[in-house]
Amino acid sequence: MNSSTHVPYPLPSALFSEGRPIPQQPTSAPDAPLQHASPLLQGVAVSKSFAVNRGTAIPVLRGIDVRVAPGEMVSIVGPSGSGKSTLLYCLAGLETPDSGEVYFDGIRTDALSAAKLARLRRDRIGFVFQNYNLIPSLSVGENVALPARLARRRAPDVTAALSQVGLLGHARKRPGALSGGEQQRVAIARVLAAAPQLVFADEPTGALDTVTGGQVLDVLRGYAAGNTSVVLVTHDLAAAARADRTIVLRDGAVVMELRGAGAGELLAVLENGARA
Ligand SMILES: Nc1ncnc2c1ncn2[C@@H]1O[C@H](COP(=O)(O)OP(=O)(O)OP(=O)(O)O)[C@@H](O)[C@H]1O
Ligand SMILES: [Mg+2]
Repeated sequence: MNSSTHVPYPLPSALFSEGRPIPQQPTSAPDAPLQHASPLLQGVAVSKSFAVNRGTAIPVLRGIDVRVAPGEMVSIVGPSGSGKSTLLYCLAGLETPDSGEVYFDGIRTDALSAAKLARLRRDRIGFVFQNYNLIPSLSVGENVALPARLARRRAPDVTAALSQVGLLGHARKRPGALSGGEQQRVAIARVLAAAPQLVFADEPTGALDTVTGGQVLDVLRGYAAGNTSVVLVTHDLAAAARADRTIVLRDGAVVMELRGAGAGELLAVLENGARA
């Protein structure tokens, strides 16, 4: 690993962006993020704009700082359009930030070559997409086994993976024969079967009923342990409250981080921008 991709921690650029100090986010003291010596994931001043009309760039992420410790489950909440999915894509290496830095286990991912990034993502990072991204021509079981097959790794225990999301007996079906919620659970089983060190999940319970959504959350909650971490984007505040820490986004900026907040407290923050 060359030195340009390794983090000298703390990063000098964590304090300055384009020569200007980054405004500190209003983090209330009891909820301050754990200062872990080596976060599994770190975003430093991550910014991203999208060009809408010729020459007009709309900022979607405005200098976001994020840290996720090994074993931690972090949830991200915020209004629709606040930049949650874009942030997840930038942190997972699916989008390149315009500026800022992203580190996974000390490796600077936003500066990696496409081939190295693809390998890192394939081997160590899982992403549950908001729209599932299943391969319709493959069976459910083949979908779940696909990441291991692509990585030329030993086939995973497809039965166990499907069983933990309540889909035992569905392995031979095509995704098109399943309901939206069932497809969502296949997407989760596919990610977990690949045993990544970091799971990003974008609205993983959006299509699920309360009971099934609760089961999926139990699985994700249990997955964040030891060296593995989970970053969850959700509109479901009860789901968000299951995380160790919740990051509240608004207009592409972190407005607050809360540790151990309940759903009611998160709702108050989203509605009023302040704690109840
Ligand atoms: N590829 C793109 N091109 C142009 N604009 C984009 C692109 N992707 C996202 N945006 C814009 O960026 C903003 C944030 O989008 P994003 O999908 O990150 O929001 P979100 O918080 O995940 O919303 P939701 O809760 O509805 O999923 C939106 O205004 C969206 O229109
Ligand atoms: Mg989204």
